[in-house]
Amino acid sequence: MKYGYFDDDRREYVITTPATPLPWINYLGNDGFYGLISNTAGGYDFYRDAKLRRITRFRYNNVPNDIGGRMYYIKDGDCTWSPSFLPAGTELDSYECRHGMGYTVFTGKKNGVTAKLTAFVPLGDACELNRLEISNDSSETKDLTIYSCIEWCLWNAVDDANNYQRNLSIGELEVTGSTIYHKTEFRERRDHYAFFTVNADVNGFDTDRDVFLGARRSWDNPIQVENNASGNTVASGWYPIASHQLKLRLAPGEKKSYVFQLGYVEVPRDKKFESKGVINKAPALALIGKYNTDARVEAAFKALGEYWSDLLGIYHLTSGNDKLNRMVNIWHQYQCMVTFNMSRSASYWETGTGRGMGFRDSCQDLLGFMHLVPDRARARIIDIASIQFENGSTYHQYQPLTKRGNADIGGGFNDDPLWLVACTAAYIRETGDATILDHPTPFNNVEGSEKPLMEHLRRSINFIINNKGPHGLPLIGRADWNDCLNLNCFSEEPGESFQTFGPSEGPVAESVFIAGMFVKYGLEYADLCEHFGSKDEADSVRNEVGKIKKATEEYGWDGEWFLRAYDAYSHKVGSNECEEGKIFIEPQGFCTMAGIGQEKGYGRKALDSVKKWLVNDYGVEILAPCYTTYHVELGEISSYPPGYKENGAIFTHNNPWVSVAATVIGDAEMAFDIYKRSCPAFLEDVSEIHRTEPYVYSQMIAGRAAVHYGEAKNSFLTGTAAWAFVDISQAILGIQPTLDGLSVKPCVPAELGDYSVTRRYRGSLYNIRVTRQAGKSGLTVNGQAIEGNVIPVPAEGSTVDVICYA
Ligand code: GLC
Ligand code: GLC
Repeated sequence: MKYGYFDDDRREYVITTPATPLPWINYLGNDGFYGLISNTAGGYDFYRDAKLRRITRFRYNNVPNDIGGRMYYIKDGDCTWSPSFLPAGTELDSYECRHGMGYTVFTGKKNGVTAKLTAFVPLGDACELNRLEISNDSSETKDLTIYSCIEWCLWNAVDDANNYQRNLSIGELEVTGSTIYHKTEFRERRDHYAFFTVNADVNGFDTDRDVFLGARRSWDNPIQVENNASGNTVASGWYPIASHQLKLRLAPGEKKSYVFQLGYVEVPRDKKFESKGVINKAPALALIGKYNTDARVEAAFKALGEYWSDLLGIYHLTSGNDKLNRMVNIWHQYQCMVTFNMSRSASYWETGTGRGMGFRDSCQDLLGFMHLVPDRARARIIDIASIQFENGSTYHQYQPLTKRGNADIGGGFNDDPLWLVACTAAYIRETGDATILDHPTPFNNVEGSEKPLMEHLRRSINFIINNKGPHGLPLIGRADWNDCLNLNCFSEEPGESFQTFGPSEGPVAESVFIAGMFVKYGLEYADLCEHFGSKDEADSVRNEVGKIKKATEEYGWDGEWFLRAYDAYSHKVGSNECEEGKIFIEPQGFCTMAGIGQEKGYGRKALDSVKKWLVNDYGVEILAPCYTTYHVELGEISSYPPGYKENGAIFTHNNPWVSVAATVIGDAEMAFDIYKRSCPAFLEDVSEIHRTEPYVYSQMIAGRAAVHYGEAKNSFLTGTAAWAFVDISQAILGIQPTLDGLSVKPCVPAELGDYSVTRRYRGSLYNIRVTRQAGKSGLTVNGQAIEGNVIPVPAEGSTVDVICYA
């Protein structure tokens, strides 16, 4: 069953009912000012940091779980309705929500009136625009009243939800004409305020929530709307909101348009006030002036569309498979932008009040983002490297506003350092810009500690070499990629964090997964040395890779698949000898990708075991059989009921590893099959089971052992976005950046047929056609056959025609 459909020409998902199984959301904003918006216009806005600079309020664990956000009421006689269904909740005559690239459009119709609400954040400015177009399609004159409403958050979202003894006394506002300014704490230490305005004269306003709603009422039925009267209240303390009242008369066929703007401005410390207690409004007025007419808003909306056309033109596929085309050309890349911007901080599942930017998460998000905006990727790599410690280990997270490592969680996740190598190497393969390796980059943000980025990568590599366990395999520390495999934790008390509890640097527990990573990324580092540094260092790193490879073949192979780890007692994890948790997905994917035991056929065997044990209808489960009891020596993984999260769900992030691994051993059928199973567009028809958005990945889909098999959770913010795009665009369709140029080497099953890809790469345009013709193989470039798969980089601005005989 579906709740909408894809409109690929407009790059939209069109939701046709407000009653989706869960709120289906979208993101507004690309750089600084962000909004989350659901298919009933719920959600919230923030500037840079969802915890520290929250602009509008959101209630977690609320019922219904999606109230708030952009609230518009249209009062038509006795009937009050909302263009996005909520907050009024009145049944509409028709409803539609179009989630597009950085914008969402609602069209609601009721009693002959059509209201279209377009929400987006214009490029380069810190505001959300809501354009409301109202038309009278009936044959009678309509006298309508519009009420807008947003609810302010008192900036720090954690404090806002906790510290009532202070907060209920601090709210402050100013109202001038149609603009409501939110200036809580501006008198003291804040140099920023927000405002909500509309480009028309208002008939009234309210800023006091309790007056607007009335006693014991909720957002569906505010007393002011019911009585059709605004109170012109200026809140002092309590709960500040911003609501406009607009009265309009529409003749039959007549249409009116309003632009609402929610803005954020920062003011220099010495220019904060116009006069005593009165805020300096100049920067707000400048921002308001930019978007106060329909024409200006239309131009900004068009610019946003062109921005996305340009970005999505960098990699474009034309194939006979519509689902594949829409994922590759639109939704994979869009989700990569969102995960780059948000890391794992703010979604409908991540509150924005907890973790900021994750080290490993952000490094992996970059893998799918490099090609889109390489300059932002470069800056992000430097930010991330700056939270590394001198010994090569790293903080696990940082706050986007301060860019400082998060001391609450600290470090000790021993896979982290290697992800820095992965994303830096990928950046250079994409851009050819090796100057990043020379960039002076501090350790732990300490001024004066700067060393070239290359030195950071070296320390990442050395950290692994210097931290091996009894079998010569890398020590796991608090956890590797699987945050819930906590082999040094031994927690017995509820509430203890599995990840920060216990000795972080256990001297025994080892990770076969990190071994696989080291072989893969150690070799990538050696290539960087060879190209841009010293051949000697390249040789010595390859030698170290050889040692870990050998140790993995000797101690990391279980007979039919790769082991997962050795625990703190040096007992095997993920072995046929174990009663539960016999096989884990991660090392099968990574060690096969890394080519460990290739000559002995380990990869083939490992992937056959994956098929036998882990593949289900919707993807590949993370382990089997699931743990049914708590294992203190394994930690959080065994805390989840079977089939959920890291205990046997399809943890979608690692499914592309298996798919890429299949391409490494040349199994195109398996690669594409695994790709399709968990791919959102391919699951659209079972939306009532899957339940989350059919246009983006969710972090997990419950496994066969779960009560709700097939149900997804934690949509949008997952490393799957980047990895799935790398998998399909580079490994399967085969268009892969290398240090020496673009490589074309597909691994596609016959069912896909011929296809073509246009790719902008290092300043040139490649038109690549992949075709199967009996007896033909290899590549032609501009009509000339070439040796191998890598196309030498042409002069910038070239157009390169490539035919690949698959
Ligand atoms: C979450 C974390 C990620 C981790 C994964 C597996 O997605 O953000 O860092 O690798 O879970 O535990
Ligand atoms: C929990 C989650 C895991 C996530 C981690 C982040 O352990 O289960 O998916 O990576 O928290 O801290």
